[in-house]
Amino acid sequence: SKSLSLIGKTVLVTAGPTYEPIDPVRFIGNHSSGKMGYDIANELARLGAEVILVSGPTNQKVKDKRVKVISIMSAMEMYTVCHDYFEQVDAVIAAAAVADYRPRHIANQKIKKNTEEFVIEMDKNPDILASLGAIKKEQFLIGFALETENEIEHAKQKITKKNLDLIVLNSLNDKGAGFGKPTNKVTFIDKDFNIQPMELKSKEDVAKDIVQKIVEHYE
Ligand code: C5P
Repeated sequence: SKSLSLIGKTVLVTAGPTYEPIDPVRFIGNHSSGKMGYDIANELARLGAEVILVSGPTNQKVKDKRVKVISIMSAMEMYTVCHDYFEQVDAVIAAAAVADYRPRHIANQKIKKNTEEFVIEMDKNPDILASLGAIKKEQFLIGFALETENEIEHAKQKITKKNLDLIVLNSLNDKGAGFGKPTNKVTFIDKDFNIQPMELKSKEDVAKDIVQKIVEHYE
């Protein structure tokens, strides 16, 4: 039936920010609330999917026992968990705001304010989604893109570079869309570069639209 159309499917979702440790009490993070990823996870479970939600630190809650939450802090931890589960999943939706860089050294003790200047050397984190795209077999891969210029062109490049089946482009130019807002305006671009602009909607309804793309793929 329509209401349980994802029974038998397992979907991995990444959500939230990552925290990149500096010392035992400090980190570099970002303002991702995790809401989009949790809304997606809840909607997948509502349609009968088994969901593995790999989540950075958030205040969000899951509504369904079909969602297995695996809490991580850093991008490197998220990378390891995603690769541990990848072989057994049918689809991935990468909604996490993964930190691009991590501090090169993590101090064992709290760093003292003994100097007037403090420099943190950083190393680039792996692109988790691209690393899954590089080894994917039958898995259906969905990523997000948030661009400030040449949105469509950059999003298309990401589809190719990360070997995605679909990208969800967040339109920052529309008011009501983006970080910390209850609503979102997205454009879907598929791997054949078909472009589908959507209306401004609640994040719950955007989550439904995204999950429908997986339902359609298996129809
Ligand atoms: O390249 P960019 O960061 O714009 O790509 C965003 C997409 O890639 C999102 O789906 C995000 O979850 C994913 N991503 C990732 N690992 C990274 C960076 C981004 O999985 N290190």
